[in-house]
Amino acid sequence: MLPMKSHTTLQVADKVARQIADPGALGPVTPEEAELLTKLDMSRLPRHVAVIMDGNGRWAQRRHLPRAAGHRSGTQTARTTIETCARLKIEALTLYAFSVENWRRPKTEIDFLMQLLREYLRREMPLIQRNDIRMRFLGRSHELPQAVQQDMREAVEKTSRNGGMVLCLALNYGGRAELVDAANAILAERLEQGLRAPLTEEEVSARLYTAGLPDPDLLIRSSGEMRVSNFLLWQIAYAEIFVTETLWPDFNRARLLESFVEFQKRERRYGGIRAGEAGSEMPARVAGQ
Ligand code: FPP
Repeated sequence: MLPMKSHTTLQVADKVARQIADPGALGPVTPEEAELLTKLDMSRLPRHVAVIMDGNGRWAQRRHLPRAAGHRSGTQTARTTIETCARLKIEALTLYAFSVENWRRPKTEIDFLMQLLREYLRREMPLIQRNDIRMRFLGRSHELPQAVQQDMREAVEKTSRNGGMVLCLALNYGGRAELVDAANAILAERLEQGLRAPLTEEEVSARLYTAGLPDPDLLIRSSGEMRVSNFLLWQIAYAEIFVTETLWPDFNRARLLESFVEFQKRERRYGGIRAGEAGSEMPARVAGQ
């Protein structure tokens, strides 16, 4: 398999357009964070980071606390992650806050999560504005409670003129549902226009909830499970996956920086071979051509 042209093109564009962060923007750092920062190349940070925030329940259980306490503590970690990524000029951060499968949880836990989300959007708005963050929501939002939908609309509206990092909260999100929604949207368009043209990858990408964003370069999953759990199935095709045993409420800034250091050690080949191994030989074919 050979590298895809779209990725090569993206990487070149990336080098030209990208803003490089000043590590000083993080403010005071711990000795561990300072050490990790010395290992980081600020010009090669991931453009889009996606996170499966897992382990809130286990964190609470280990402390003999109700699960709700784990979720509440998880919102603090979300805050640190959001602010750190924004200050490091990451282009997009996507947090998996509620999946289509999460409706299987007890009603009291779901009600608590919805309440927590509403509280979160209100409380964190100053931090979001201060950091010039634009908000987006990924998922079947029309199935969420009306009050939550209203808060989501307001958050999108209030931040729509910001020019910094795009923060996507995946809420009532499922990767398969997203692909079905995209396929149905294209189908409806085809029927309306009487078109019979075959689908292209670009068309599908443009109909996903993440349309216009770069695909995630790094997928982080806390609490050790080796699963992708129906998250961004299309978009993570070439993402580097970082799984840590750390439970989400304990995933602090040092752990986030550590995931970036690990990301920069990976060699991304997009299906090609190591740089230099092909000598002067040209690719036999480029995908999509
Ligand atoms: C998984 O923990 C986490 C979730 C179901 C998502 C909820 C996330 C938060 C409340 C933190 C961030 C919130 C916002 C609004 C950005 P789990 O309950 O599955 O943990 P377990 O596997 O240990 O039971």
